[in-house]
Amino acid sequence: MGAVVSGLLLVSCAGSGVQGTPGTPGLRDPYFRLLGNGGYDATHYAIDLAYDPDESELSGEAVITAKAGKSLSAFNLDLHGLDVESVTVDDKPARFNRAADELTVRPDDEIPKGSTFTTRVVYSGEPETITDDDGSEEGWLYTDDGALALGEPAGSKAWFPGNHHPSDKAAYDIAITVPDGLEAVSNGELRSEKPAGSGRTTFAWHSAEPMASYVATVAIGPYETKTSTTDDGLPVFTAVAPAEAEESAEVLARIPEIMKWSEGRFGPYPFSSTGAIIDREGAAGYALETQTKPVFPGAPDLETLVHELAHQWYGNSVTPKTWQDMWLNEGFATYAEWLWAEDHDGDTAQETFDALYESDDPELWAFPPAEPTDASVISDTPVYERGAMVLHKVREAMGDEPFFSLMKDWAADHRHGNADTDDFTAYAEKAAGKNLDAVWGPWLYGDGKPKSP
Ligand code: TRP
Ligand code: ZN
Repeated sequence: MGAVVSGLLLVSCAGSGVQGTPGTPGLRDPYFRLLGNGGYDATHYAIDLAYDPDESELSGEAVITAKAGKSLSAFNLDLHGLDVESVTVDDKPARFNRAADELTVRPDDEIPKGSTFTTRVVYSGEPETITDDDGSEEGWLYTDDGALALGEPAGSKAWFPGNHHPSDKAAYDIAITVPDGLEAVSNGELRSEKPAGSGRTTFAWHSAEPMASYVATVAIGPYETKTSTTDDGLPVFTAVAPAEAEESAEVLARIPEIMKWSEGRFGPYPFSSTGAIIDREGAAGYALETQTKPVFPGAPDLETLVHELAHQWYGNSVTPKTWQDMWLNEGFATYAEWLWAEDHDGDTAQETFDALYESDDPELWAFPPAEPTDASVISDTPVYERGAMVLHKVREAMGDEPFFSLMKDWAADHRHGNADTDDFTAYAEKAAGKNLDAVWGPWLYGDGKPKSP
């Protein structure tokens, strides 16, 4: 039997020289095993969508440019729901099949290691809202007069096929065609707004800097949009649901001031524009740091705006390698809120830290920030508040000046990249010039409330 099998293998690879193998269906994220796909690195997504809120019907064409990390006989994309009409690889029809959220593509010719290839997927259907293990909703959210796409941690597979793991970042061009009278807003800068016939308009958005798919967004609705610039000339684009316009005007007017303060604390802003999308209250259950334009369900308070803008440095530019590293997002963005208060006549970070330590809230000590118990708790308090407490302990161990340099240098040295907890602890110890186990032990990895503050 063995001889026959190997004989067949020899026949099947005759002529090709090297035999390609399939890319893996997931990247073994400790919290989401099948998220992302192995064997290639996506570098660019061109996504063309058409959506009519009255029909709830999305039609899409995604062209994914990727580089093969090995010789590939097949590879996967993550896609949830929707009907796939056709798949081509380098403009040649490819076979494909679907199982759960995996779309497997088998091109006629193997893709050689190191080559750049494009995959075109034509699809349509009613996109789904995904309910996560923690009960929160993501994916395609249906709003009163449009839709809102949110993707943390895994919702973007509900509206386009891709390598939906935070470790594979790419540039994006997202174009959305909607009925006249509606706006369609996405990440990056608006390249064009053109009539598309049949009473429709196409909005084309461009994101040059690398973006993780979980912070990609599309917001469709009758938003009031506004473009301005900061003193430094950075474009500011806001889209606001009319019902929230009055209540959000004052806080949104402070975006340039917040950007300036953030650059002072975190270093140069990593993207080509900033802004915000304010949907109606209830459109989503949480705010999200969608790249260049964080999304808020209702007029945000100042702290939340500061938090989501801080994520542009910590999370969007320096992106976690896996979902276990979520505290590198939320601990930093929460600490940004503490610093904002400290710099604006509010509580000092020390006072915020002390109050938390005294609070005895059992939720806060439920698990160590670097080791969430399971996927259902990655957005829980320990990741946010206790994550920020870790940073405060690092500050205490290093002293203010070196710590504030660390905040900037960490962002600069990992700009547009990915990092994990080990990267951070090694980086901080190098900056501190000493071992920081006394911080990591109880605060980052330890179970329960540390014995002393
Ligand atoms: N990461 C978001 C933020 O901090 C919040 C968030 C996203 C969230 N998804 C969630 C909070 C699910 C609770 C549950 O800005
Ligand atoms: Zn956050």
